[in-house]
Amino acid sequence: MFLSKKELVGLDIGSNAVKLVELKSSKNGYQLKNIGEAILPHHSIVNKIIEKRDAVADTISSLFEDLRVKTRNVAISISGHSVIIKKVSLPKMSEKELRESIPWELEQYIPQSIQEVNYDYQVIPGETAEGNIDVLIVAAKKDVTSSYVSIVREVGLNPVVVDVDVFALENMYEINYPDAEGLIALVNIGASVTNINILKDGVSIFTRDITTGGNQFTDWMIKDLGLDYAEAEKVKSALHEGEITPELETLTRNFNDLICGEIKRTLDFFASTLWTSKVGSILVGGGSSKVPGLIEVLADLTEANVDSMNPFRNIFYDKNEFDPEYIEAIAPKMSVVMGLATRKPGDKS
Ligand SMILES: Nc1ncnc2c1ncn2[C@@H]1O[C@H](COP(=O)(O)OP(=O)(O)OP(=O)(O)O)[C@@H](O)[C@H]1O
Ligand SMILES: [Mg+2]
Repeated sequence: MFLSKKELVGLDIGSNAVKLVELKSSKNGYQLKNIGEAILPHHSIVNKIIEKRDAVADTISSLFEDLRVKTRNVAISISGHSVIIKKVSLPKMSEKELRESIPWELEQYIPQSIQEVNYDYQVIPGETAEGNIDVLIVAAKKDVTSSYVSIVREVGLNPVVVDVDVFALENMYEINYPDAEGLIALVNIGASVTNINILKDGVSIFTRDITTGGNQFTDWMIKDLGLDYAEAEKVKSALHEGEITPELETLTRNFNDLICGEIKRTLDFFASTLWTSKVGSILVGGGSSKVPGLIEVLADLTEANVDSMNPFRNIFYDKNEFDPEYIEAIAPKMSVVMGLATRKPGDKS
């Protein structure tokens, strides 16, 4: 069988789990072809750095095998400390001048030398001060990017797109919420990182990765409740089902306060320095957005409308092939991978 070069699979190598989504596009939009996740062994990826290469490679391989995915092209993404996203305002200049000035600009914002990062940039269309252009610069540490790229190659896959989590989220949002208006924050609370992307009328105007996520909760459970990692993760994922002990209730409350406090600080920073109006709506996703009470605490603290993001809002799937209950349960943590699955080979991040 010939495979179109245009086909690719979204592959989100998170620190807790590897997620995969494959879509078919038709004239009526996107249809789900394949979906799944595989949990990584503890400490396989620490602070977004791949520590156990064999474990990560085996997990990716098994996921492709179990789901019988034939497509070899993949879109992956990176996030956290190794990524820097900057919006800069520059005097109008030719394309060539701009290309030459980007490294100079970037050097002001990164601690390392320009040789140690991969970077890309894009002129942001729209109104700016007279004689100026706004440019979005994205830089990622070469060693981190290449460790993700090489692991994917090692298992026989072909990384055709290397994206950034916050932009994948934005892409997911564009497809599923095409009628977007006003200021909205997309917040993806993962295991080690919380990605934030604030959009105005569907266009990103601010991004930030906070390096805290559900791992903090798991660490507390290990320390305070004497559980091992696997047990703690299991108890956590069933929190909404059973009776919660007083100890767990305290940890849940502490976690919600910690994460929602961090998110609020970011939104306050945004409101005070970059934009006059407050973010009125927040869509939350990521596995840790399922911690009981988190949505309510965030709504209380920020006084915004807070809802779960739904990466399947505009994605058709056959209910005989995929169990709607399963899709609904995993939806929050599939936001980044959904954004990746809709990329095209050669797409810029
Ligand atoms: N039902 C649940 N209730 C509470 N927490 C959950 C639930 N399901 C998953 N989690 C937590 O969500 C996190 C995993 O979410 P996600 O898959 O979005 O992270 P990741 O992409 O692997 O990590 P990162 O992007 O930070 O590298 C883990 O900390 C896990 O314990
Ligand atoms: Mg993630």
